[in-house]
Amino acid sequence: MPNTRIKCLRPPAIVSLVLLLSFLVATGDQQPAYKLPLIVPLVRDTDTSLYTIAIKNDAPLVVDLAGTLVWSTCPSTHSTVACLSGTCSAVNQQQPRRCRYVDGGWFWFGREPGSHCACTAHPFNPVTGECSTGDLTSFAMSANTTSNGTNLLYPESFTTVGTCAPQRLLASLPAGATGVAGFSRRPLSLPSQLAAQRNFGNKFALCLPRFAAFGDTPVYLGMEGRGFVNYTEVIPYTPLLTNPRNPGYYLPVKGISVWWNGVNISASLPAGAGAFDLDVRTGRGGVALSTTTPYAIMRPDVFRAFAKAFDAAIEKGKYTNVTRAPAVEPFKLCYTGAFPFMKRPATYDVPRIYLELAGATGVWPLFNENYMVRVPGAMCVGILEMEPGGMPVDDEPAMVLGLKQLDMNLLVFDLDKMLLWFSGELSFRLAGCASPF
Ligand SMILES: *[C@@H]1O[C@H](CO)[C@@H](O)[C@H](O)[C@H]1NC(C)=O
Ligand SMILES: *[C@@H]1O[C@H](CO)[C@@H](O)[C@H](O)[C@H]1NC(C)=O
Ligand SMILES: *[C@@H]1O[C@H](CO)[C@@H](O)[C@H](O)[C@H]1NC(C)=O
Ligand SMILES: *[C@@H]1O[C@H](CO)[C@@H](O)[C@H](O)[C@H]1NC(C)=O
Ligand SMILES: *[C@@H]1O[C@H](CO)[C@@H](O)[C@H](O)[C@H]1NC(C)=O
Repeated sequence: MPNTRIKCLRPPAIVSLVLLLSFLVATGDQQPAYKLPLIVPLVRDTDTSLYTIAIKNDAPLVVDLAGTLVWSTCPSTHSTVACLSGTCSAVNQQQPRRCRYVDGGWFWFGREPGSHCACTAHPFNPVTGECSTGDLTSFAMSANTTSNGTNLLYPESFTTVGTCAPQRLLASLPAGATGVAGFSRRPLSLPSQLAAQRNFGNKFALCLPRFAAFGDTPVYLGMEGRGFVNYTEVIPYTPLLTNPRNPGYYLPVKGISVWWNGVNISASLPAGAGAFDLDVRTGRGGVALSTTTPYAIMRPDVFRAFAKAFDAAIEKGKYTNVTRAPAVEPFKLCYTGAFPFMKRPATYDVPRIYLELAGATGVWPLFNENYMVRVPGAMCVGILEMEPGGMPVDDEPAMVLGLKQLDMNLLVFDLDKMLLWFSGELSFRLAGCASPF
């Protein structure tokens, strides 16, 4: 990565103090007043499976759970943030990731007059692994407030700090998306900035693929026969782990088992329960969550153990006419034969994969739609073996859960307590998120 540090030509202007105060309020003495939670629709792009969030005026942003920043293409004239501000040092404390640099072009041509000391930052495209350089600026946003996640009260406008990026950095993102919204715990992610501005707790919910809600999370599940139920009464939670080397979220997985009609096979992992451990010194290992990877990926030793367990569950299952089929790229595990059909929920009766979690109040299930991929003549397991090129996520985790695994789930991130509430595929609870959209 080229050296893009810029020299400061003059002391910070008044504008930098204003920005500093308005954007880093959480670190000051004064707490901002409590404001109502926000609820924003998501859209799942059919070509890429990526989710976009409609929060930035006139421009959808891709949801990146592991992203540290908000970034977008910018109008030719845009505001800047002073390079001697707290916001600038916060943004540049983000360790640069392993990335391929694409030229940012003459981004400074659009700066407002007189902004000699303007902060630059490094937007990163999590799909292509490319990064660039752009001005730190402020983005106009708006969203509806809600009292309990089932209603819309009134829209509110606000700004967040983010980075300009060149058009070229949009490669492989959904058509129409103009950038990425990072959802990590870092101070300039979208949820962190909203929590600091609105004092509603560092919490957010993703009800995929429908909406994101920010604040002391207002989500009800609409459940067959029970009406609206507070999610905390029905779904389990797990401690969330963090990796000091990267901003992503990790799960404390201890084991994997495959269950089918009473047959329960545990994957026998080479290093036993330690196979998934996150090494906090090197940042390697662990099970990471990703909203920018289409399918789950496992390190080869973990994949081999899992594949054996899955095959064994199929073989020992009572449906003897389901058999292994040739692989269909990129999937290794494919099966043909008549998987029986179930009534509730109305779907194929296929094995269930369970991730056992340390310290959680339940196991993490992967039911049908969270791993099964229909291909002509077969059903394949949408969990891939890591390629020699490595993981699509930094620091070589043991496993990544991707978009296929997280879709149709309710995930509530409580970053004050570092807990993640998780539902599994909602149709298996005969439930869906109550939504005003
Ligand atoms: C608020 O919700 C209404 C109804 O869905 C929608 O038309 C409007 O665009 C939303 N406003 C914002 C700022 O998102
Ligand atoms: C949510 O709030 C609205 C308005 O206050 C109310 O009409 C609705 O019944 C509430 N929903 C639930 C599930 O409590
Ligand atoms: C859901 O239940 C929790 C725990 O009892 C409570 O703190 C929270 O306020 C409830 N949420 C809503 C929207 O009623
Ligand atoms: C399957 O076996 C594992 C390991 O013995 C156990 O932890 C898990 O609870 C079992 N799962 C089911 C669904 O019985
Ligand atoms: C598959 O096997 C089951 C039980 O062994 C049987 O009931 C079913 O008819 C078979 N289906 C087909 C398509 O052969």
